This record gives sequence, C-alpha cells and structure tokens, in this order.
Amino acid sequence: MSKSQKSLIALLAVLLLFFGFVVIRIGVAKPATTVKAAKIPAGEYDPAAWGQYYPLQYASYKKMAEESPSPTGYGGSVKVQKSEMQPEILMLFKGMPFSRDYSEDRGHVYALEDLRESKRIGPASKGACITCKTPYVEQAYKEMGWDYANKPLSEMMDKSKQPVACANCHDPATMNLRVINPAFIEAQARRGIDVTKASREDMRSYVCAQCHAEYYFAPGTNKVVFPWDKGLKPAEMYAYYSEKPNGFVQDWQHPDSKANMLKAQHPDYELFSTGTHGKAGVSCADCHMPYMRKDGQKYTSHWVTSPLKTLDASCSPCHNQGSAWLADRVKTIQDETFELQHMAGQNIVRAHAAIKAAAARPDVDESNLAQARELVRKAQWYWDLIAAENSMGFHNPSQALNTLGQANELAHQAIEIANRAAGVKLF
Ligand code: HEC
Ligand code: HEC
Ligand code: HEC
Ligand code: HEC
Repeated sequence: MSKSQKSLIALLAVLLLFFGFVVIRIGVAKPATTVKAAKIPAGEYDPAAWGQYYPLQYASYKKMAEESPSPTGYGGSVKVQKSEMQPEILMLFKGMPFSRDYSEDRGHVYALEDLRESKRIGPASKGACITCKTPYVEQAYKEMGWDYANKPLSEMMDKSKQPVACANCHDPATMNLRVINPAFIEAQARRGIDVTKASREDMRSYVCAQCHAEYYFAPGTNKVVFPWDKGLKPAEMYAYYSEKPNGFVQDWQHPDSKANMLKAQHPDYELFSTGTHGKAGVSCADCHMPYMRKDGQKYTSHWVTSPLKTLDASCSPCHNQGSAWLADRVKTIQDETFELQHMAGQNIVRAHAAIKAAAARPDVDESNLAQARELVRKAQWYWDLIAAENSMGFHNPSQALNTLGQANELAHQAIEIANRAAGVKLF
C-alpha cells in the first residue's frame, strides 16, 4: 500500500467515524415525546398516579403551586382582584357576578379550589363551569352528554376530584396529545376542522385552546358554545352574537344603561392565533412549556406559567436578541396596551352613565337611546376582549391596540348619541 493510499484510508476512517456519529446523534435527538408510554388506565385522573411514570413532567407540573408576581407587573400567579389596578371594572360589570369577584388567574393546580371559593358562584350555578377545570369532564360527558352542564354545580364539583391535569391533554394509553372539551371539538367541527386529524404542531396549541377561549352558555341547556362560526376576530364574534345564536341575547343587562351586555371570557387562543406568533406557526407550548434538561434528559416543562419566568428557554430557541431586549419589548407592549385599556374602560363607564341620564328625561328620543345602548354593548365587548385576555396585549399587540381603539371610539359615539337622545349635552 502506498503512502497516499494509507492516508486515503485514514481519511475515510475519520469521515466514517464523524458521519456515523452525526447519524447516531440525529437518531438520538428524536422529538421529546417519544417516551415509553406507561399505559395508564382510562379514567385515571390523578396526576400523582401519572407522575410515577413521568417524574420530570410531574415535578415541573407541581411547580404550578408556586405563587409569584410577573416581572412586568401584569398577570402573575397571585390571586389579586383585577379591580385594584382598574377600579372601572366594578362599574362596567355592575349588576353581575364579575363585579363581586374577578381575580387574576394562577396555576392550573388551583383551578377547582378557585372555582369553589369564587364569590361568583352560588346555589343556582350549573355544572357547565367544570368544563375547563378538571379532566372529570371526560367522564361526565361520556355518561351524560351535555346534560352534565345543567346539573347543579355542587354535584359536579363533588365528582371532580382533580383540577386541570394530565388527562386533559394526554391520551393515558399512548401519551399522545388529545383534547376532551366537547365545546372545543364541536366548535372546530363547525369550522371544518377535525381535531382527531390535527398535526402535532396544532395540538401543541389546541390542548390549551380547548379552555383558553371565549364561550357562552346556551340558554336553557347551559351547553358551552364557542362563538367561532364566523371567525375568531373581535368583529366576527360580535357579528355572530348579534344573530342571537341558540336564543342567546345577553350575559346580563347593565342596571344603569339597561343595555344588553356580553361578558368576554379569556380569548387567549383567539388573539394568539390571529397574531404574529400564531400566524408564524408558533404554538402556545413553545413559549409556555419550553424544553428543559435534567441529567442530560430533554423534557417538556409542565410548569405552565408566565414565559417571562423562563425567558431564555422560552424565547431563545427562535430569538437571538437577548433576554433583556425581549423582556423590555414585552413590558413596553403591555404598558401601551394597559394605558389604552384603562382609558377605554373609563370612557365606557361614562357612556353607561350618559345613557342612564338620558333615559331619565321625560322627552327622551327612544330610537337614539336604543342606538346608544347598542353602541355601549359593542364598545364594552371590544374593551373586554382585551381586558379578559390574559397577556395584556402580548399575544397580538397590533390587534389589541386596534380593538381598544375601536372600544374608545364606540364609547364616545355612545355618549354623543345619548346626548342626542336627551336633546341636551349631558356629558
Ligand atoms: C410567543 C410566546 C407566547 C405564545 C406563543 C403564547 N404566549 Fe401566552 N404569554 C406570553 C407572554 C410573554 C405573556 C405575558 C406574561 C406576563 O405578563 O408575565 C403571556 C401570558 C399568558 C397568560 C397569562 C399568564 C399570567 O401570568 O397570568 C396566559 C393564560 C397565556 N399566556 C396563555 C396562552 C395560550 C393559551 C396560548 C396559546 C393559545 C399562548 N399563551 C401563547 C407568551 C406567549
Ligand atoms: C395543558 C396540557 C398538558 C397537561 C395538563 C399535561 N401535559 Fe404533558 N405535554 C403537553 C404538551 C404540549 C407536551 C409536548 C408534546 C409534543 O410536543 O408532542 C407534553 C409532553 C409530555 C410528555 C412527553 C415527554 C416530554 O417531556 O415532552 C410526557 C411524558 C408528559 N407530557 C407527561 C405529562 C404528565 C405526567 C402530566 C400530568 C402530571 C402532563 N403531561 C400534563 C401538555 C400537557
Ligand atoms: C382544562 C382546562 C385548561 C387547559 C387544558 C389549559 N388551561 Fe391554562 N388555565 C385554566 C384555568 C381554569 C386557569 C386558572 C386557574 C386558577 O386561577 O385557579 C388557567 C391558568 C393558566 C395560566 C396562568 C398561570 C399563572 O401562573 O398565572 C397560564 C399561563 C395558562 N393557564 C396557560 C395554559 C397553556 C399554555 C395551556 C396549554 C399548554 C393551558 N393553559 C391549558 C384552564 C386550562
Ligand atoms: C417557535 C419560535 C418562536 C418562539 C418560541 C418565540 N418567538 Fe417571538 N417571533 C417568532 C417569529 C417567527 C416572529 C415574527 C418574525 C420576526 O419578527 O422574527 C416573532 C416575533 C416576535 C416579536 C415582534 C412581533 C410582535 O408580535 O410584537 C416579539 C416582540 C417577540 N417575537 C417576542 C417573543 C418573546 C418574548 C418570546 C418568548 C416568550 C418569543 N417571542 C418566542 C418566533 C418565535
């Protein structure tokens, strides 16, 4: 063998070693979900039972019991009344349960406890409220169909032993992601989306969307319905509600303006999916359930909380601007959203008062009055979509500001038409 032949063989050996190693590395770095499934029996809802087989995920899940504020001052995992920062909430929800108790959300492990302690519920409350609080909803729906929604809440709560847990998002036998909220499955079907055929990427948001979305209770049955038939944007959902779907007219009537009002509920998925990240194919789990490593093992964090607490792990896989820049962007977006939200909320309070004052005048113009009521209903819907959304604008900054701008303008229009109804400038 000549010298050059020898070096060629040596080179080939090095290349073989190198590429062989690369092939092995790629083989090892499979998606994190290829864990060996422990075949947990169907109907096992206790996260501790699942945790025996998946200790890393369970340990991080339990961190949701931690209570700490968000570094930006918005959101956070501490139960504080939202009206502390926005006293206008007490007037906007006058005459309905959200004026009694409306606290900031905290970790999933508290979902049942916070429902039980909420001053918003009472003896007349219905089983529908468990839909987004517990995996027991799977069994309830299997046994009773939508009838569970009309049972007394206390009865359904006694049967719901566990708060949001593994079985809400995982098939116990295969550990594949799944959704069990029948309202979400039906809403997607009406939009032509079969959730059983969804991609893994979509499922990484759908598991959250099944609860973090706007809904209403159908009158009579209390069935939970998502208002998505016309689309997920504020105007599209408002148009849907304007057609009185399932006979649903209002959540309550505001006692001052006598306007038929809508209460928006945490439309996190709606805002996110029409925003920059949603459109770019980023999922809720990308930010809220980042990959972690322990003893060389890669796993998905199940500490579902503010991504600012895990900023590097949550954002750096896609962004190289550095955590200080990113944290500052989030804070700026939230400050700008809050300022406009606070302003719009206060103007809507004035609109309710203006309509009340106009209605008290004996010579009031009824048709203008009706128009002013429609305007304040719409204004508050636009305001509430952003106020009830949990990210203070971050999930979709431009839409948040646009929606609040509309709320502000609609509130001014309501005041103007109320003045016209009164025949004098009252406000
Ligand atoms: C691009 C990253 C990103 C994506 C994607 C994302 N979020 Fe967020 N989310 C954030 C940030 C940042 C905040 C603000 C956290 C704060 O204020 O501390 C937030 C806040 C929240 C909050 C409030 C947290 C608190 O402290 O009270 C909830 C709930 C939430 N997101 C749910 C979702 C859901 C559900 C989805 C998918 C439909 C989603 N997020 C998608 C980044 C993201
Ligand atoms: C709110 C939804 C949700 C809940 C509740 C939940 N998971 Fe997950 N889990 C996920 C998502 C999302 C992934 C990532 C799956 C993927 O990318 O394919 C995941 C992945 C996993 C994996 C695959 C390995 C990994 O780390 O990526 C295991 C195992 C797992 N979860 C166990 C659990 C256990 C045990 C519980 C209860 C203590 C639980 N999960 C609760 C959403 C959830
Ligand atoms: C079965 C319903 C359900 C599912 C599924 C669900 N959530 Fe939640 N989520 C809730 C409820 C209810 C709360 C409020 C709990 C409380 O305040 O007691 C909550 C609270 C949160 C919070 C606030 C936590 C904090 O520390 O303040 C975040 C963030 C969040 N969810 C994100 C997500 C994401 C991301 C997913 C999907 C990976 C998801 N949720 C799936 C029902 C759900
Ligand atoms: C899976 C990838 C991915 C993750 C994770 C991710 N982003 Fe993004 N982000 C994008 C893409 C793609 C865009 C749009 C294109 C661009 O600006 O690069 C974007 C845009 C942005 C923008 C500008 C647009 C806007 O909506 O204001 C900000 C700010 C931002 N991201 C912050 C964050 C923060 C903070 C986190 C972590 C909490 C995060 N991102 C996590 C992919 C991601």
